[in-house]
Amino acid sequence: MSELVLVETADRIRTIRFNRPEKKNALTQDMYTAAAEALETADGDPSVRVSILTGADGVFTAGNDIVDFTQRPPEFGEHDTPPVRRFMMALLNAQKPVIAAVDGLAIGIGVTLLLHCDLVVASDRAVFKTPFVDLALAPEFASSQLMPRIFGHAVAAELLLLGDTWNAQRARETGLVNRVTEPAKLEETARFMASILAAKAPTSLKASKALMRAPAESIEARMDRENTIFASQLQSPEFAEAAAAFLERRAPDFDKLG
Ligand code: COA
Repeated sequence: MSELVLVETADRIRTIRFNRPEKKNALTQDMYTAAAEALETADGDPSVRVSILTGADGVFTAGNDIVDFTQRPPEFGEHDTPPVRRFMMALLNAQKPVIAAVDGLAIGIGVTLLLHCDLVVASDRAVFKTPFVDLALAPEFASSQLMPRIFGHAVAAELLLLGDTWNAQRARETGLVNRVTEPAKLEETARFMASILAAKAPTSLKASKALMRAPAESIEARMDRENTIFASQLQSPEFAEAAAAFLERRAPDFDKLG
């Protein structure tokens, strides 16, 4: 595993840390590959329930490495999966929850990737910017669809067209970020949220995340899809444990189910 991305798993939480502070954590192809592997393997690893994506030294990431962009531009052909796409697909397809903990700079893909995380915590000194048009580029990885959906068109245009810089408070108001903390409490807060998720019934969490991320469909189709999953969950050992815990006035223990 590359030292530029540090991966550790403890207490059922996998932490994936961008670690190239001297370059403001600008992401290279090797870093995308390492982060993609960490996310891909998390899904099959029973010791992992939740992943946290974060940065180092007061920086989340200044985005794609611009030198890499000019020297080795990604090719998105029919049979090509450049590392950046592999990473974003790993994030899109992650079955287990992913929490981002953002301190300092989140630029370019550093913002785009947040749209694909389940929860985002930011420090009060975090800044968010997507200068794609300023760099004569264009939005990436479905941000042109997700941002208008999350923020509304006019607010999305602040980031995607004007190239505004948002502070943590603006990011919180717009719904990009769930919670803002002081920098010293950022990782503790992300780990606390992760530990709450890690104690929940894994199959239920996975199904709920998948439903929230599923493409839009008719209300009736969605009701039917949910009902099928709901009925299956009612038959699950996790529900049996949750119901028993309720009746016995104790916290459920899903770990003992293996
Ligand atoms: N790609 C490659 N290198 C980057 C980088 C990026 N996205 N962002 C920062 N760096 C490098 C700088 O070139 C510099 O390298 P050097 O010390 O070898 O000269 C180092 O990181 C520190 O950056 P610096 O610009 O000196 O720090 P700063 O605090 O003055 O400014 C930024 C920080 C992030 C505001 C500024 O570096 C910047 O605008 N970076 C580009 C961000 C961007 O447009 N990303 C989107 C890509 S789509």
